[in-house]
Amino acid sequence: MNKIVIAIDGYSGCGKSSTAKAVAKKLGYTYIDSGAMYRSATLHFLDHSVDIHNPQEVNAHLDQLNIRFKINPDTGYQETYLNDRNVEQDIRNMRVSNYVSEVSTIKAVREALVAQQQELGKEKGVVMDGRDIGTVVFPKAELKVFMTANLEVRALRRQKELEEKGQIVVLEDIIKNLADRDQTDSNRKESPLMKAEDAVEIDTSNLKFEEQVDKIVQVAQEVLGKIK
Ligand code: DC
Repeated sequence: MNKIVIAIDGYSGCGKSSTAKAVAKKLGYTYIDSGAMYRSATLHFLDHSVDIHNPQEVNAHLDQLNIRFKINPDTGYQETYLNDRNVEQDIRNMRVSNYVSEVSTIKAVREALVAQQQELGKEKGVVMDGRDIGTVVFPKAELKVFMTANLEVRALRRQKELEEKGQIVVLEDIIKNLADRDQTDSNRKESPLMKAEDAVEIDTSNLKFEEQVDKIVQVAQEVLGKIK
């Protein structure tokens, strides 16, 4: 059976990851969270006090990064490993969230991670979410989705997500973090966040989670129907 690449891009906090995960599950595809890779690099740089303005230091540390995804057999969820350490929790905290966009502007970081992402998706049958998946990582993806939602809705969703993980963060801090990241991600020189010309745009502000998942699965099936 034919398999396709599904690229899902969009602003921070639109629910890309949870949507991409659910789409992958429904189609029996592999989900790849490219943001987790930028977050892991950021965590590594923070833990090793890397001066991100020093290219030699950055390159030396990029060579030490081994990022993998493994399914936790108890929960069935995929978790991120950095050099064999489970960093799934650590990469989601505000310390990393507040620094990751800056780290993602570095060309060498993007080149290293894009190469790994392309390798992970080369057999197809993947759903990958991020900011440049449809434009840079897989410009020939058979299905590209661009997700949007208004800022307040995104912040409330993110707050709930953090609360469920036991992290209490005030709404204003989340709004600021999301707005700052939108700004940095959309205006950076290297692969800025933008909608690919041939992407299907989905505004999730007023959609239920199941509705956005079903919408993407339906379009994926239409695409698959055409290439059979
Ligand atoms: O999807 P996320 O919020 O976990 O991503 C964290 C940051 O990583 C985001 O602010 C920008 C960066 N990122 C990127 O530049 N390119 C990607 N493909 C994925 C994430």
